[in-house]
Amino acid sequence: MSKDKVDIFDTTLRDGEQVPGCKLETKQKLTIAERLDNLGVDIIEAGFPVSSPGDFKSVSEIGKLVKNAAVCGLTRAVKKDIEVAAEALKYAKRPRIHTGIGTSDSHIKHKFNSNREAIIERAVEAVAYAKTFVEDVEFYAEDAGRTDNEFLARVCSAVVKAGATVLNIPDTTGYCLPEEYGAKIKYLKENVKDIHKATLSCHCHNDLGLATANSIAGAINGARQIECTINGIGERAGNTSLEEVVMVLRQHPTLNLDTNINSKLLYNTSQMVSQEMGMMVQPNKAIVGANAFAHSSGIHQDGVIKNRETYEIIDPADVGVNASSIVLTARSGRAALAYRAKLVGYELTKLQLDEVYQEFLKYADNKKEVFDEDIHEIIDSSAINIQS
Ligand code: KIV
Ligand code: ZN
Repeated sequence: MSKDKVDIFDTTLRDGEQVPGCKLETKQKLTIAERLDNLGVDIIEAGFPVSSPGDFKSVSEIGKLVKNAAVCGLTRAVKKDIEVAAEALKYAKRPRIHTGIGTSDSHIKHKFNSNREAIIERAVEAVAYAKTFVEDVEFYAEDAGRTDNEFLARVCSAVVKAGATVLNIPDTTGYCLPEEYGAKIKYLKENVKDIHKATLSCHCHNDLGLATANSIAGAINGARQIECTINGIGERAGNTSLEEVVMVLRQHPTLNLDTNINSKLLYNTSQMVSQEMGMMVQPNKAIVGANAFAHSSGIHQDGVIKNRETYEIIDPADVGVNASSIVLTARSGRAALAYRAKLVGYELTKLQLDEVYQEFLKYADNKKEVFDEDIHEIIDSSAINIQS
């Protein structure tokens, strides 16, 4: 049975770039956009054109450069924003305007000092206006995660009628539980009028560490677009991480969902974005962290040396990592030491290994990690005679 495709909407250059200290020059944004296009993302959110002349220029240049992906510009539900976004997107082969407004009671009251009926009216006007410039209009219901489902379905029905092609359901504050977010998408699938005319999209933030789980719950319940960033970069605790959702769908074939992403480019793309933004990737980050395929405890190392599948659910090569690594620490066992010693040129007999291992433990207790040069030192300075 063929799998349902989930579109990947990358917002590294918009929601990701909002992070303090991650501001990029247009040239850097173009380099990243080209890489995202090669990676296979379906939509690149290139920026918020009305926000600054620099952002306008970046969106416009990205629109000229990108060959395959749709290029998207963010707006508020404000006419001027929409006009400026349309102008910035005029060279894009597949332009998309992403417009919207807050729909939770908190946003309606505190941000807009308004009421529900007036918010629906503004949402419809914005979508209808964007539609006069481009065919592809995505609507976001900001803080949808805390918006009551019945009202959210009314807003969504109204904007679909006005021509919205995609309905973005952001968990802006990262508050939802996966079950709750999945149920919200299911409710909208069942209650938005003419929902077959639009794609439901997940846009989850990671304040409680649930962004990936929530996005997957959304996809399981009928969303066919996931909004995410490379390395999960984004405001506060970040956005859904692209590499995580892509690999969750790929590693779980029974979900019957997949993306167009060339997963072999994930590691390099992660490194490249990290360098351009000056934002390091945490070592224990799933899929692309330095330790994602590193094994350091004796029991795990022994298992992986016997058969990789004992402790690895992903082949590192599938995400562009050369090989898993066996890291030598004071927690490592004989199997790991023999394995690494062999890699650097020493074939140890069982007796020799027993002896070298005792020296190794003394050495390792004083170091965080034992490297190849340390193995040479341990073996060369040991009393036993080993052929290298
Ligand atoms: O998190 C959010 O609600 C957003 C919207 C502006 C799409 O980023
Ligand atoms: Zn966001």
